Amino acid sequence: MTSNLSIVNYDEAKVPAYTLPDPLICADGASVTDAEQWLTVRRPEILTLFEEHVYGRAPARPADLAWEVTSEDREALAGLATRKEVAIWFAGREGPRMDLLLYLPNHTMAPAPLFLGLNFYGNHTVHRDRGITLSTQWMRDNEAYGVRDHRATEASRGFGAGAWQVARVVTRGYGLATAYYGDLDPDYDDGFRNGVHALYPSDGGERPGDAWGAIGAWAWGLSRAMDYIETDADVDDRRVAVMGHSRLGKTALWAGAQDERFAAVLAVQSGCGGAALSRRRFGETVAAINTTFPHWFCRNFCQYNDREEALPVDQHMLLTLVAPRPLYVSSAAGDRWADPRGEFLAARHAHPVYTLLGTEGLAADDMPQLNQPVMGVIGYHIRPGEHAVTAYDWERYMDWADSRF
Ligand code: GCU
Repeated sequence: MTSNLSIVNYDEAKVPAYTLPDPLICADGASVTDAEQWLTVRRPEILTLFEEHVYGRAPARPADLAWEVTSEDREALAGLATRKEVAIWFAGREGPRMDLLLYLPNHTMAPAPLFLGLNFYGNHTVHRDRGITLSTQWMRDNEAYGVRDHRATEASRGFGAGAWQVARVVTRGYGLATAYYGDLDPDYDDGFRNGVHALYPSDGGERPGDAWGAIGAWAWGLSRAMDYIETDADVDDRRVAVMGHSRLGKTALWAGAQDERFAAVLAVQSGCGGAALSRRRFGETVAAINTTFPHWFCRNFCQYNDREEALPVDQHMLLTLVAPRPLYVSSAAGDRWADPRGEFLAARHAHPVYTLLGTEGLAADDMPQLNQPVMGVIGYHIRPGEHAVTAYDWERYMDWADSRF
């Protein structure tokens, strides 16, 4: 079958008729009627399907995981926050290392609830704060961020601040933890030779079709960040929300699906391979994403290029793996590539699992109007504007977290 990648459908009338797999019907045809059956039978089945067909299998926590707090300033941001930097090694100090940056509020006494998410251009881009160590890792080129020659520069310090709202987050009593995704796996197709993939070579040659891709590696790194966070007395490890934008929103969903220590999950314009239903083929499709980003998913996922109907899962089932924990899906009207309607519908189709597990789920049958957030156990909003994380988005995430934590 050939795919014409240059034709992108943005017409709702041209969305094909499709039937979604039912998250509440087990592989043997039995209906799931109670929480016990969901937790012991169906949930593990769905998790395995995503490992096999979409993101690949990730290794367990490495035995020699190690960390060290490399800097700590209790008077950061003019006394508003405590800033810490933590180096996390996965296989001895010569191997790959992830630098976790934390800002924690100083005005609250108790251990802080936390948002944890990976960033695109280095920790130093999330705030102008000169106390943040400049990354020495490979960076994606981005003139707008002052990143040339794949090197982070002083010019890029604070360039992504709008997407992180550090001072607002801390002022509202939340901590923020972030790490550069390239510490885990530089975002280009190198045959899985660099980053943490290199620590787990496949025995005897060819990588299996269900070997983990970059999204798997990034999500694994979020769990390793959580391994450290569980030991940090300044953080309430029972109130850690994993969040991410775009490819890192896909990553946050996959991390939250696999690792139930994450108490809540927020996916921002995560689109294809994230919250958006693949079978709609609206905006980015499975064929398009696998062609442009062959290193993101496991190889088996390519079997579904232009064959979305053959997938044993769709992305609403990824959302059910978060249940009954709070989940927030957010869209931007101008970001049609990510299929806002497909993101909402996935949340809608995850709703029956949430109600089976005794929560209200998503309190909306239809897509809400712009800037009319739905604040249930499943939260959702769509705002005007483009593909970005904005101050408006952050205020809604924190409003929601206030009521969920
Ligand atoms: C591309 C890609 C999307 C992804 C986005 C991003 O647009 O096609 O799937 O979400 O990049 O990560 O910014």
